[in-house]
Amino acid sequence: MWPYPKVLAHRGGGKLAPENTIAALRCGLAYGFRAVEFDVMLSKDGIGVVMHDPRFGRTVAGEGAVARTPASDLLRKDAGAWFGPEFAGEPVPLFTEFVDYCRSQRIWMNIEIKPAPGFDEETGRWVALKTRARYTAELRAGDAAAVPLLSSFSMAALAAARLAAPEVPRACLFDRLPPDWQMQAAALGAVAIHTNHKHLSRPLAEAVKDAGFGLFCYTVNEPERAREIVGWGVDAFCTDRIDLIGPAFI
Ligand code: G3P
Ligand code: MG
Repeated sequence: MWPYPKVLAHRGGGKLAPENTIAALRCGLAYGFRAVEFDVMLSKDGIGVVMHDPRFGRTVAGEGAVARTPASDLLRKDAGAWFGPEFAGEPVPLFTEFVDYCRSQRIWMNIEIKPAPGFDEETGRWVALKTRARYTAELRAGDAAAVPLLSSFSMAALAAARLAAPEVPRACLFDRLPPDWQMQAAALGAVAIHTNHKHLSRPLAEAVKDAGFGLFCYTVNEPERAREIVGWGVDAFCTDRIDLIGPAFI
């Protein structure tokens, strides 16, 4: 039900490095993490980049929107300086280079499809096709544990991902589980439910597990809370505190 690693570094390296950068992956590796969650959005010219916010201003300076900027311009932006001077010049990664780095270091990926508003289908389709193309051999061999898991808050993005590459596994991402979570997950052929641990209860966790889905929580930063939800049957979670909660915590 959950063939994947159980503790993931959120946005690459949690809160110890600039999110969604190769430097974050390096930081995660330094703490022994070979499993990450990260966010993918499309540029104006339809190329996947590893970014969380649809607009500039937080992790990259200036004003503007990812979906209105060509990838070549996005790649020139500094995604490290906001975090600390030692990371200045750290670029926005292309999805493909991020995946290549993870593959080369044997890092497992939970790829969050994070469409800019209005680009749900395009983003879901693009990410699913690129992921399938990079994991053809593993998919053909039925090596489920090696293949990344796609997730999204956007059910439209997941539906498009399914249509484009049904064999790449998907997870429904909910802040709070809606009453019809099971119907939605079944309709999308999802293998797992990803949810905010803050809104999870033991009965809900048990309902998800009883229904046969994997159960993943974001973003768990306190060891005590992590132990509690794991006791409820949660299979895996991501954390910002890779210094407090190690990869072998569960
Ligand atoms: O994928 C889990 C988590 O990353 C979802 O929230 O805003 O950190 O992408 P966010
Ligand atoms: Mg995310």
